[in-house]
Amino acid sequence: MTTDDFRESGLRFPEGFTFGSATAAYQIEGAVAEDGRGPSIWDAFSHTPGKVLNGDTGDVADDFYHRVDEDLDLIKSLGLGAYRLSIAWPRIIPAGTGEVNEAGLKFYERVIDGLIARDIEPVVTLYHWDLPQPLQDRGGWTVRETGYAFAEYARVVGERLGDRVGVWTTLNEPWCAAYLGYASGEHAPGIRDEEAALKAVHHLNLAHGLAVSALREVVTKPDAKYSVTNNLASVYAADPQNPEDVDAKRQIEALRNRAFTDPQLRGFYPQDLIEDTRHITDWSFVRDGDLELIHQPIDLVGINYYNTDTVRRGAEHSTEGTPFPGATRVEWVDQPGPFTEMGWNIAPQGLYDLLVATHEAYPEYDLVITENGAAFADEVVVEGGEKRVHDPLRIDFLQRHFVAAHRAIRAGVPLTGYFVWSLMDNFEWAFGYSKRFGLVYVDYETQERIAKDSARWYAKLAGSGIIPE
Ligand code: FCB
Repeated sequence: MTTDDFRESGLRFPEGFTFGSATAAYQIEGAVAEDGRGPSIWDAFSHTPGKVLNGDTGDVADDFYHRVDEDLDLIKSLGLGAYRLSIAWPRIIPAGTGEVNEAGLKFYERVIDGLIARDIEPVVTLYHWDLPQPLQDRGGWTVRETGYAFAEYARVVGERLGDRVGVWTTLNEPWCAAYLGYASGEHAPGIRDEEAALKAVHHLNLAHGLAVSALREVVTKPDAKYSVTNNLASVYAADPQNPEDVDAKRQIEALRNRAFTDPQLRGFYPQDLIEDTRHITDWSFVRDGDLELIHQPIDLVGINYYNTDTVRRGAEHSTEGTPFPGATRVEWVDQPGPFTEMGWNIAPQGLYDLLVATHEAYPEYDLVITENGAAFADEVVVEGGEKRVHDPLRIDFLQRHFVAAHRAIRAGVPLTGYFVWSLMDNFEWAFGYSKRFGLVYVDYETQERIAKDSARWYAKLAGSGIIPE
């Protein structure tokens, strides 16, 4: 990996480039027991002692459920052209299958209509990890029925909102849902079973394909676009001349990237992935015809990017306990800093490399950065009677990554949009409320929102299309 100075301003994005921000239902909504919402795996997980830092839960979160108008005004005040939100499956079909909860549909109708009224394009994700608990009780993503249940849910949402939502994303980061949920157990449902994780990979892919087909049948908005968001890894071999390090990189890329993109975008599972995982599973859960069901025509490929990985050949049991079922003798090399509060290395070059590599592998798709952003230890200061949050590190982070995106466009990558994670501080999964990713600060005691300096910086970029100082 080369180091480069990505600090640059004055670059102009192409006309029509989408500047947005993103959130997810469980991370912001709260109101977990209101208006007929059923429990999800994240309710169960966060209420299990020891799973989430400080025992935090999404019970209240940012209370978005009760503050929709105020928060949509906030997005408007930043001048953003698009907002990526997720719909909570347990609000729409509380038991996972069967009865539809009208109040849930009404809630999202209100959010979507509110966005459209403010001239903000809604970009809807159907699954950002909040699986209805009753489906988990029947096997969750280890069983194919969950994929069919997802398609049923997608159809219900598509029927109601398909006349006004123009961008549909099936899944957010199936890598996390499968491997953190079922292999390392760091995320809900907290299972540690390597074969279960690989089954989850397949059934999530299946769910994606089935949902695209269902949506296409019911969505009526002309030119609606379909997509999936993967958190593809930007992986490097510690020594690119060393075949064993290169093989370590190949294994991680197969598990992390190609296990999803090849079936979704090409209609096959990588042969090397199947070989690498033979000692765990024979993949007989992939039934005849599944790959055709998964491989549906889509328009956009969403990429979530945060940091890079460098790997080398490791000791015999070096992958035990990692969320990489089947990987053998892989060791992660400490990355050079600087780091964010998550301990993730800041590497705009990694974003550039990933965009270029994804475009080379799948040249016919438009790409969108559906998440990128950073957690820092933000503090509120009072100046001239006004509350402020000075976050120069986040501004620096965003500037460098927007420059990387701009360079990728110049290199020929059809990148059409960029969504900053996140609109506002929120429930950061296993880290609870301890990590602040927002452009807007949230005081969890009072639910006050305070735009950080980075929000003002981003508003300038969104308003002009030019990367500010
Ligand atoms: C991604 C998730 C998102 C958020 C960011 C920091 O993995 O999609 O919900 O937690 O990381």
